[in-house]
Amino acid sequence: MKTRELGNLRVPAIGFGAMVLSPGMYGEIDDARGENAIRAALDAGATHVDTSDAYGPDGHNERLVGRAVKGRRDEVVLATKFGLAIPEGEASRPIPVGFKFGELRVNATPGLVRGYAERSLRNLDTDVIDLYYLHYPDPGVPVEETVGALAELVKDGLVKHIGLSNVNAAQLRAAHAVHPVAAVQNEWSMWRPADPELVAAARELGVGIVAWSPLGTGFLTGTVQSLGTDDFRHNAPRFSAENLAGNNDRFAPIRDLATHLGISPAQLALAWLLHQDEHVTAIPGSRTPAHIAENLAAADITLHPDTLARIDEALARFEVSGGTLL
Ligand SMILES: NC(=O)c1ccc[n+]([C@@H]2O[C@H](COP(=O)([O-])OP(=O)(O)OC[C@H]3O[C@@H](n4cnc5c(N)ncnc54)[C@H](OP(=O)(O)O)[C@@H]3O)[C@@H](O)[C@H]2O)c1
Repeated sequence: MKTRELGNLRVPAIGFGAMVLSPGMYGEIDDARGENAIRAALDAGATHVDTSDAYGPDGHNERLVGRAVKGRRDEVVLATKFGLAIPEGEASRPIPVGFKFGELRVNATPGLVRGYAERSLRNLDTDVIDLYYLHYPDPGVPVEETVGALAELVKDGLVKHIGLSNVNAAQLRAAHAVHPVAAVQNEWSMWRPADPELVAAARELGVGIVAWSPLGTGFLTGTVQSLGTDDFRHNAPRFSAENLAGNNDRFAPIRDLATHLGISPAQLALAWLLHQDEHVTAIPGSRTPAHIAENLAAADITLHPDTLARIDEALARFEVSGGTLL
């Protein structure tokens, strides 16, 4: 597998996002299938595994990841996040989101950061977190104060590298001035353009970009015609029956292009992303070993500049219906 750099951290160009493996996310899943998916990802070379203390109830996703990498910990770049799974009794601040439920809540107070990390270390059953992200900046706490607490964790050996998720360029710059940031993790895919100022700041500072939901939470695979009952995408307006049908029509030329190239729409979406910047990595999620193998093969696909231009022209011709999530 080709590799990329996130600051001083080397990772495979395509990693694995484990969120899909907790109940209540993308339909049917159980722990045996989840652990099997992570092992399949590692076997295929996706050794950068991304989780969060907020995925699934009571650290479910971290505990699942911890069990799956048991005995193979040295092969893995283990990334997790904090700030949204707030200890009982602590205050929190709202973050408006485009999901139908309206808001997430965050607490990234410096005094809580060590406790978050120690809980994640227990969940993951490990003694160090390779890449530890602030999941979402706290509107009540300057990001540089949270990063100050993260720097202490690095000094004390609990964490190797720090990351920020869902930040803008100004927040990245403020944080990086306190402690080097290895990676920013923001949504970026064919149906969710990156913030150009953030990409420019990351390039300038030598910070890697980890693209979350690189398959558009499954939409860009071209396989989502409707949703099952236990699927959280019911909360995402882009997946309402009307918007989904329209969005599928809009993306028909992209799917046709994938067919013409002899690759799958998922592979085209991932290869396109990797061509956007040399320090971008993708962390697609999947419960299915065949999908995981298909996705990882995208790291070896080279797209001709004419193809990239055709894609950009097609994407510029329309707006996706349903707004954005964050
Ligand atoms: N920092 C943040 O705020 C944030 C927010 C969201 C996500 N994330 C991270 O990003 C990771 C990935 O995002 P995501 O899981 O939301 O979305 P995604 O990777 O864009 O899409 C996942 C969906 O695509 C389907 N899929 C994957 N490969 C496929 C293939 N080749 N063919 C057909 N279907 C395929 C999966 O279904 P199957 O299981 O059936 O394959 C699943 O439903 C998460 O695990 C998480 O680590 C971070």
